[in-house]
Amino acid sequence: MARDPNTTANKTFHSLCYPLFLFSVLSSFSFIYYTHCSPSPCSPPQTINPPLRNVSAVINLLSFPSSWNHLFFSPNPPARHLKIALFVKRWPLRNLAGGLERHALTLHLALARRGHQVHVFTTNSSFPNSSLPSYPNASIAFHPTSPSPGGYLNQPLAWQQFQIQNSTGRPFDLVHTESVGLFHGRARNLTRLAVSWHGIAYETIHSDIVQDLLRGPNEPRHSAFPERLAKVVEEVKFFPAYSHHVATSDHVGDVLKRVYMIPEERVHIIVNGVDEEIYKSEPSIGSSFRRKMGVPKRAKLVIGMAGRLVRDKGHPVMFEALKQAFMEDSRFRETVFVLVAGDGPWGSRYKALGSNFIILGPLDQTQLSEFYNSLDIFVNPTLRAQGLDHTFIEAMLSGVPVMGTRFASITGSLIVGPEIGYTFQPTVESLKNSIFKVFRDGRIVLRRKGEAARERAAYLFTATKMAAAYERLFLCLSNHHYCNYPLPGEGVVR
Ligand SMILES: *[C@@H]1O[C@H](CO)[C@@H](O)[C@H](O)[C@H]1NC(C)=O
Ligand SMILES: *[C@@H]1O[C@H](CO)[C@@H](O)[C@H](O)[C@H]1NC(C)=O
Ligand SMILES: *[C@@H]1O[C@H](CO)[C@@H](O)[C@H](O)[C@H]1NC(C)=O
Ligand SMILES: *[C@@H]1O[C@H](CO)[C@@H](O)[C@H](O)[C@H]1NC(C)=O
Ligand SMILES: *[C@@H]1O[C@H](CO)[C@@H](O)[C@H](O)[C@H]1NC(C)=O
Ligand SMILES: *[C@@H]1O[C@H](CO)[C@@H](O)[C@H](O)[C@H]1NC(C)=O
Repeated sequence: MARDPNTTANKTFHSLCYPLFLFSVLSSFSFIYYTHCSPSPCSPPQTINPPLRNVSAVINLLSFPSSWNHLFFSPNPPARHLKIALFVKRWPLRNLAGGLERHALTLHLALARRGHQVHVFTTNSSFPNSSLPSYPNASIAFHPTSPSPGGYLNQPLAWQQFQIQNSTGRPFDLVHTESVGLFHGRARNLTRLAVSWHGIAYETIHSDIVQDLLRGPNEPRHSAFPERLAKVVEEVKFFPAYSHHVATSDHVGDVLKRVYMIPEERVHIIVNGVDEEIYKSEPSIGSSFRRKMGVPKRAKLVIGMAGRLVRDKGHPVMFEALKQAFMEDSRFRETVFVLVAGDGPWGSRYKALGSNFIILGPLDQTQLSEFYNSLDIFVNPTLRAQGLDHTFIEAMLSGVPVMGTRFASITGSLIVGPEIGYTFQPTVESLKNSIFKVFRDGRIVLRRKGEAARERAAYLFTATKMAAAYERLFLCLSNHHYCNYPLPGEGVVR
């Protein structure tokens, strides 16, 4: 795979930090090493006092309590190639897809390119003109079936296809289901199975509280509100039917173990990664994007937002906060510009706030990468706590500091401290204060945070890192030898 020199340099650099890292894994699971390794190569962290000891200790990955993104896996493809069955409700075409679908595509394309054989069981409505996609150098076979009346994967039909593939030729080594792609009734008997959760009911409760607090005095309470706890209980009952669970944030990993009471050695945390070949820091492209979009030279702060411009993504709150900020401060009005990418009713509302707002409409991935590079700060005001929003990671990989709602998945995995960006409570007041803080901090501080964000994301949240972690989990489920960490060759690289 082609890669830009920066990432390669970074990898080499991080492998130097590896002994320190392994030590921290084995001792305290404090990952402070990371920030300490950043600016001055591997100066011994102050917080980890004893010298490096037993680096030869081998751990069992299945009981590794933190996110696997922190581990170092060999970049070489493994000797063992798996036959993998993927159950996913929809397969994404182009960029028109949500997080779950894009996760399926990014992950399984990477796995197939590393030599694994992937069979995708999905709905035929994913392919409206009935031509199946093909990917160069990747063994991905599709088995589309017509959806169930509810729009789900039709379980008996998909299962039948699976059985045919399992009994002809080589049987499957492993089943992966994106969320409830494969329902628990059939998943129940499979031991070599992993499910990835992109949002669980327990997380929604926080969103529900936030959204109910923001409800107007005459607005009725959302109808789903009273049933939410029952939904959590239902999930607590059926989740254990799945053999292994992948949590896509540190917070969800904790909830699955503690609230959903799934045994720890069946819960594994692998935070999503995004394609680092597409999302990377390119300042010159960013400045030409600004010029192209008509951001004036006098701009001192460019704020960006991207995604669906709808209510539950927090746009009513963001709209009000920005409106007040522009009204209250004339210097802010003269020098701050807001780029808004995406689609939805709030697009035209932002536009009506005046010429400081530049509305871009939906962007494809290449344009999005230019967009991120043009920003001083990326804000995602989402009020939905479910799953992990990829836009934060895309912005971070582009070297842009990020600002987000104080939800546990966001603060626990992404914006882990002020060195990466800013967090706010989902209220107009708190959001406005955060925006003014960003304004006061100014470009020099923002660039420093952006660089810290990029380093963190480039180490933890690339598609390559995610694929390597999943590959290892899948290998481990199919052959216990691979559950040992580190394997020979993954040891200390000097
Ligand atoms: C190193 O780790 C191995 C495996 O856990 C253990 O058997 C050995 O006693 C440890 N050695 C020292 C010096 O701690
Ligand atoms: C079918 O859809 C795919 C993906 O959207 C597209 O690449 C292809 O050109 C389409 N084929 C036809 C015949 O429209
Ligand atoms: C596919 O593999 C061939 C031979 O290894 C290589 O020349 C080509 O660039 C690859 N194509 C892609 C899209 O990776
Ligand atoms: C999906 O399959 C059903 C049954 O074979 C068929 O009637 C329907 O037209 C297909 N839909 C698409 C979009 O191909
Ligand atoms: C797949 O085939 C293998 C080998 O015949 C068999 O042992 C296994 O039970 C099958 N898996 C399922 C889920 O039917
Ligand atoms: C799962 O296994 C149980 C006990 O072996 C069996 O009774 C049941 O039919 C199996 N379920 C499925 C969906 O294969």
